[in-house]
Amino acid sequence: MLPPKLSPSMMCADLFHLAETIRCFERNSVPYLHIDVMDGCFVPNLMLGTETVRQLRQFTAIPMDIHLMTEDPGGKLEWFGIRSGDYVSVHAETTRHLQRVLAKIRSLGARPMIALNPATPLCMAEEVLADVDAVLIMTVNPGYAGQELVPQTLDKIGRLRERLDSMGLDRVEIEVDGNVTPENAVKMRRAGANIFVAGTSLLFRPGGLEEHIKAFNDLVK
Ligand code: DX5
Ligand code: ZN
Repeated sequence: MLPPKLSPSMMCADLFHLAETIRCFERNSVPYLHIDVMDGCFVPNLMLGTETVRQLRQFTAIPMDIHLMTEDPGGKLEWFGIRSGDYVSVHAETTRHLQRVLAKIRSLGARPMIALNPATPLCMAEEVLADVDAVLIMTVNPGYAGQELVPQTLDKIGRLRERLDSMGLDRVEIEVDGNVTPENAVKMRRAGANIFVAGTSLLFRPGGLEEHIKAFNDLVK
């Protein structure tokens, strides 16, 4: 089983305490910052633009986990100052030339990830599983924080893990994004996920941020 990793959903962070939030992540070796980029077309919301990414890169060395929920993701890759160590996820539903976009992410030095909405079948990723370092399973319908888990996505995680392992792609990671509560995280981990997008369900909720991080690490190790 691949080691568990937190990827805090920065769209859920308190903007007025962002600096101390990120310093807390650094102290706790949080490996990614999940950056939800939303264009108001692919998803009915606008979120986290290029200037946010630019300033975050100036402020911290934590790699980005950029989640492109946009039309024409291939035409936007150069907007984010992509670096090696970053993950960049592209929705299969947003481009006709998926393999080309994933290859371009790799050519920019980042790790390509394919993202699938809850209703999008795993077969949409079948022909590019060997081209990616991770698959993002949306466990809510993308666009907003605070939504309920789409229950059938748990089984989808398990089927994907089985498929990847049967192809010898056991190093390909599975990221889950949406309503990752402590209870859901245990089920997702058991199903085969190892990267957890942590938003209002896990980190950005009442109680101490550091305590939530430590409790999560104990829960899924
Ligand atoms: C959903 C967002 C996620 C997540 C937020 O489109 O991409 O960041 O849902 O976390 P929760 O679901 O815990 O509020
Ligand atoms: Zn996301």
